[in-house]
Amino acid sequence: MNLELSEEQRAVRQLARDFVDREITPHVVAWDRAEEVDRSLVKKLGEVGFLGLTIDEEYGGSGGDHLAYCLVTEELGRGDSSVRGIVSVSLGLVAKTIAAWGSEEQKRRWLPGLTSGAYVGCFGLTEPGTGSDAGNLATRAVRDDGGTSRSSGAESGGEYVINGTKMFITNGTWADVVLLFARSTDAPGHKGVSAFLVPTDTPGLTRRTIHGKLGLRGQATAELVLADVRVPASAMLAPEGKGFSVAMSALAKGRMSVAAGCVGIAQAALDVAVRYAGEREQFGKTIAHHQLVQELISDIAVDVDAARLLTWRVADLIDRGLPFTVESSKAKLFASEAAVRAANNALQVFGGYGYIDEYPAGKLLRDARVMTLYEGTSQIQKLVIGRALTGVSAF
Ligand code: CAA
Repeated sequence: MNLELSEEQRAVRQLARDFVDREITPHVVAWDRAEEVDRSLVKKLGEVGFLGLTIDEEYGGSGGDHLAYCLVTEELGRGDSSVRGIVSVSLGLVAKTIAAWGSEEQKRRWLPGLTSGAYVGCFGLTEPGTGSDAGNLATRAVRDDGGTSRSSGAESGGEYVINGTKMFITNGTWADVVLLFARSTDAPGHKGVSAFLVPTDTPGLTRRTIHGKLGLRGQATAELVLADVRVPASAMLAPEGKGFSVAMSALAKGRMSVAAGCVGIAQAALDVAVRYAGEREQFGKTIAHHQLVQELISDIAVDVDAARLLTWRVADLIDRGLPFTVESSKAKLFASEAAVRAANNALQVFGGYGYIDEYPAGKLLRDARVMTLYEGTSQIQKLVIGRALTGVSAF
């Protein structure tokens, strides 16, 4: 793997840095306190091409490779994880999954809006009763063929009637479309799961913003309730019963994007810790002179580099068409735990000031904490890695 970034990759990273410094950093504290990112930012993310990375231009995408996608995700994560999450979900989990699995009609229907920022997407997998055990989800999609006998699946006519509840859905309140996973056949476990593209203005779909989160406060995280939501059979993404494969393939790439966001958190922790250590004086000299402060800073720096290299490896594998699922779990596992450590170390450098929200370390720590939980907990990543090494499944 060549670790030297191409001219194009360096340019997109600089674009992202400038975007973060101009459009995000000045508002981070206010958005966190208000528990809402300014929604007009989504349009701006679309205009600059960040919602279309890796998507073909014919569907409104801005092209680019997965390393460029990681570079942008890292910079957004450095700025504000709530914003990074909007991109990771709307582009990473929804648009990229439609591009990979969708029919021509579905791509034309959804991708231009998602890549431009006219639409926001959300990923409806988790339920109140199923988080890690996603294959056991309870939401049901029941076929209603209007009394006529037809074959099942996306290619036929008729409708599905969907009932269920989805929990902790990133972008949930803002989303125009939900990539929804529901049980549509009686096949056991994950084999009965199908994927649907459900417009959020469909009658019967209601949502509630979840407040009181430890971090990611600017993000529109929601509970979605579906009561007799009717969608045409053509809303099914991929063949019937392939929904879990759709979800797993989305998450395999999604975990890389979370990892890149975590590199951004850790980098931000390093930046603010170094700056503060050079300004704050104790015992007659800046605290940068104290060896135990240097230890905290060097620990962050090693975490940043290690997490970044693991993440870039995933992007490189994807771009070369090689298997990457286990490497993505390794990157997500390491980078999310590293982001927590890094933010915690930065907070230690800030001392008491780190504990109040006028200083950045506390928010970095609050935002980092969820990274070891969502898109698969650290324990799930370890089981995925362990299964690959031993050939024995714990599930
Ligand atoms: N691409 C395509 N198909 C894949 C795949 C991939 N990368 N990985 C697995 N599959 C397919 C398999 O081929 C298999 O298909 P068949 O049955 O047709 O053979 C099917 O998916 C099941 O695969 P596994 O046997 O590997 O699945 P499992 O049941 O053992 O999975 C698990 C267990 C790994 C724990 C899985 O349930 C899991 O990842 N759980 C965590 C769920 C999770 O990450 N949730 C996050 C919620 S989303 C979120 O947080 C988004 C947000 O808003 C931020």
